[in-house]
Amino acid sequence: MGLDHVFTEPPPEAAADWTVPQRWADYSAADHRTWVTLYERQARVLPGRACDAFLRGLEALDLHGGGVPDFERMNEKLFALTGWRVVAVPGLVPDEVFFDHLAHRRFPAGRFIRREDQLDYLQEPDVFHDVFGHVPMLTDPTFADYMQAYGEGGLRALGLGRLHNLARLYWYTVEFGLMRTAEGLRIYGAGIVSSKAESIFSLEDPSPNRIGFDLERVMRTPYRIDDFQQAYFVIPSLQALLDATLLDFGALYARLDAEADIPIDALTRADEVFTRGTQAYAREKAGHAA
Ligand code: PHE
Ligand code: FE
Repeated sequence: MGLDHVFTEPPPEAAADWTVPQRWADYSAADHRTWVTLYERQARVLPGRACDAFLRGLEALDLHGGGVPDFERMNEKLFALTGWRVVAVPGLVPDEVFFDHLAHRRFPAGRFIRREDQLDYLQEPDVFHDVFGHVPMLTDPTFADYMQAYGEGGLRALGLGRLHNLARLYWYTVEFGLMRTAEGLRIYGAGIVSSKAESIFSLEDPSPNRIGFDLERVMRTPYRIDDFQQAYFVIPSLQALLDATLLDFGALYARLDAEADIPIDALTRADEVFTRGTQAYAREKAGHAA
């Protein structure tokens, strides 16, 4: 991930919990324009691709507006719906700080916005990814509970030395999750809905595997942070995701000790396969890099 915004101590202007004021008045006209450009692109791509909960959340929070949302105003609506609020942080924060915020129904969001020449890709989360991507789902009561439980589970996994496994659950659900619906597969992952190209790729490209969600399977699968995913995991519903994760992970973590990772492009015999990917995209990319 980009290192510019990573610190080990809260920077001088931040509180002990690493939060900073958003300083909404300081966004420039160009910053607001960038938000609107990104927003309008996604508004064209996401109907029929994003899940209902996401699209409803976007409406409920009235996130289109004139530009970068003012967290204070957005939080009034969000808090009334699910008891969550968004807090501004200077960039990526240490794991225990991040989990503690989630466990208390606070979503830490970067306040900076990408430059106009970075519309398509950026390695670290900015306010468009964090707010447009993540916050609409936090208006859904089931997903809201899942994120809080994840924060509590993160603190536990840290103590148990299992964060590398639990991080994969976050990646393949909160960031890159797909959902099965009567109308077909839909996106709920923030990393997908905040990217125009991946919104299309994740659902329509023949390259990636699309596999039924299985907790242990997900925790054994590495992920890519540098390009489109080679595997996406499909949940039957948000309730099923919450139910699968409410059990105590202690026994699962113990089992994972003895189990090898599953290669990122592999399918296993136990997989429920929605799409057997060609992996052509990943292979092509690897060829260029070699
Ligand atoms: N049930 C998990 C545990 O025992 C916590 C958790 C809940 C993790 C939801 C992720 C999501 O550690
Ligand atoms: Fe994210």
